[in-house]
Amino acid sequence: MKTVLSGIRSTGHLHLGNYFGALRNFVQLQHKAKCYFFIADLHSLTTHPKPVDFHSGVKTILSEYLASGLDPEKSTLFVQSSVPQVCELYVLLNMLTYKGELERTTSFKDKVRLNPDNVNAGLLTYPVLMAADILVHRADWVPVGKDQEQHLEITRLLARRFNKLYEVPVFPEPEAYNFGSDLVKIPGLDGSGKMGKSEENGIYLVDDQKTITKKVMRAVTDSGPVVPGSPMNPGVANLFTILGVVSEPEVVRYFREQYDNCTIRYGDLKKQLAADICRHTLPIKARIEEIYNNGPYLKYVIEKGTEEARTSARATMELVRDAVGFKSF
Ligand code: TRP
Repeated sequence: MKTVLSGIRSTGHLHLGNYFGALRNFVQLQHKAKCYFFIADLHSLTTHPKPVDFHSGVKTILSEYLASGLDPEKSTLFVQSSVPQVCELYVLLNMLTYKGELERTTSFKDKVRLNPDNVNAGLLTYPVLMAADILVHRADWVPVGKDQEQHLEITRLLARRFNKLYEVPVFPEPEAYNFGSDLVKIPGLDGSGKMGKSEENGIYLVDDQKTITKKVMRAVTDSGPVVPGSPMNPGVANLFTILGVVSEPEVVRYFREQYDNCTIRYGDLKKQLAADICRHTLPIKARIEEIYNNGPYLKYVIEKGTEEARTSARATMELVRDAVGFKSF
């Protein structure tokens, strides 16, 4: 059976795009592969989050994952910092990674530009830590978005380099797992890019009805099709895309006809869209809250996942230490 691994940073919330996109596919993948889903709390430290908020951020993402259908009986759910072998492998991989390779990474250059006062070494070696996350479980498949593809390339390079230097095939080269046409892309509400690019363009699973309605009503549209058959404004097209995911086909058809014959009132479309989004997300929101407040359950999930993750990581590190030449006296 193939091994799949995916990490998510511990700051922020899951949005509609995560839910109807990757998460839906993760839920299916759980039946087909050995899945590791973890919260990359170490990676989050590059921006120095406050300790008081740190744990609740981790707990939030875990609750949101569980409420969205990740099943601790099928998958291994854990927190990165609880698996010390990740850090051990990170040190060893750092010795095989060249400064120039890391400086050329697009994500690093972007962060330097955005935050010139916090160019720390952790930021530079972020891809090495990510490689350690993946290689410590000898994962075969890593579902990654466009922004993480380059990091996965570095992981593949390090796997090859390690195997070659130590002349043992310890690491498989992980492949980018592509959901293909199964991956629904949810656009943001601001008429540009995908959901989650900025705080305001997204609808989060924890948003309440009032917030969702307000965000949808504020979404970018135009003043209506001026000439029948003229190309659809991107903001309007985005609303139709989301409608296509959350609403019944008759509803989509109804508004599409109204659009085509130029009688559409965007206020009505938005009201319907907000109601249909709520129909999906409000039950999940309730589940998130229930799970978040169920301390014993979260403890059970994390203890189980941590044990599984450590067992897998320990087995890899035995091979790694042996390959490098560490020996006990
Ligand atoms: N860097 C990833 C992101 O920002 C999160 C992540 C950390 C990750 N380690 C990983 C993703 C390993 C996949 C595999 O989205």
